[in-house]
Amino acid sequence: MRILSGIQPSGRLHIGNFFGAMHQHLRFQADHDCFYFIADYHALTGNPSPADVARYTLDVATDYIALGLNTEKTVFWRQSDVPEVTELTWLLSCITPMGLLQRCTSYKDKVAQGMSPNHGLFAYPVLQAADILIYNSELVPVGADQKQHIEVTRDIAIRFNNAYGKILTVPTEHIIESVAVVPGVDGRKMSKSYGNTIEMFEPEKSIRKRIMRIVTDSTPVEEPKDPDKCNVFALLKLVTSPEELAEWENRYRSGGMGYSDAKKRLAELMIDYFKPFRQKRTELENNIDYVKKVLADGASRAKAVATKTLAKVREAMGLGA
Ligand code: ADP
Ligand code: TRP
Repeated sequence: MRILSGIQPSGRLHIGNFFGAMHQHLRFQADHDCFYFIADYHALTGNPSPADVARYTLDVATDYIALGLNTEKTVFWRQSDVPEVTELTWLLSCITPMGLLQRCTSYKDKVAQGMSPNHGLFAYPVLQAADILIYNSELVPVGADQKQHIEVTRDIAIRFNNAYGKILTVPTEHIIESVAVVPGVDGRKMSKSYGNTIEMFEPEKSIRKRIMRIVTDSTPVEEPKDPDKCNVFALLKLVTSPEELAEWENRYRSGGMGYSDAKKRLAELMIDYFKPFRQKRTELENNIDYVKKVLADGASRAKAVATKTLAKVREAMGLGA
């Protein structure tokens, strides 16, 4: 099955991105035909500095490769290296009703959070639809926040096929629901935009510091605690064995345990979890030409698929006859 997903290079990736999305992306590689890309065109909707776009794009690429991207099998590229997708965006725009985009909540949410209300931000779901449709994607694993964009994609694909013949593959939805939202150090959803993240590859010392600062309630040490309401426990769940987790649950419920004990253990486990990948990441940082080569190779494989779909769509719409 063709699986496709994209991730924006809008900052350094964190453990919420990893456990919420990347981990599943990487697991799909064993049994599926995976297409993963860095959505730099999408990131421009937030008007980042050119230096940040370039830096975060390479950062995301390095992280993915270090964490186990199979560079032989999986097609991995930078969105803007296949500009055909922007032509498809225009062609699809012409059959996309305004109402469909006006109903999208992410535009309103992002503007409410202070992003500039530019046309790119409004038309963002059409570019996402083009990403998905140009590569004939069947399954698109995304977090719950992206569900509406997949529905828009399906709607656009069905409209196109009804109007011009069955050319586009209508993807099935696939929401990564098995994973709970990973809390940040302040207890809100971990997110680059809240500044509450723990990055996979920040220095070990700073991972420890951040974990020790995780917000907990003020239940005294001797009293029982509810693990299900604790941010530290929610993170422990991601990195500990079921046996050890059961022990911690017991310690929470029995009382006599301070949150700092759980935090210290969490820091150790989190650092160990990413240790093998950290070494690989350092090697890649010192060989950034290799990372660029992987992206260039991915772009040429992606382009081969994109140009075929685009040619069919152009012809169906009466262009270039
Ligand atoms: P951020 O909120 O840090 O900007 P993105 O919106 O770029 O993260 O998310 C990229 C991917 O990571 C998405 O698929 C999203 O669902 C997932 N993701 C981000 N933060 C979390 C989180 N705290 N818990 C679970 N998944 C997350
Ligand atoms: N909008 C997605 C996000 O913010 C990123 C993205 C862009 C994407 N194009 C995509 C995800 C195509 C899946 C498929 O997370």
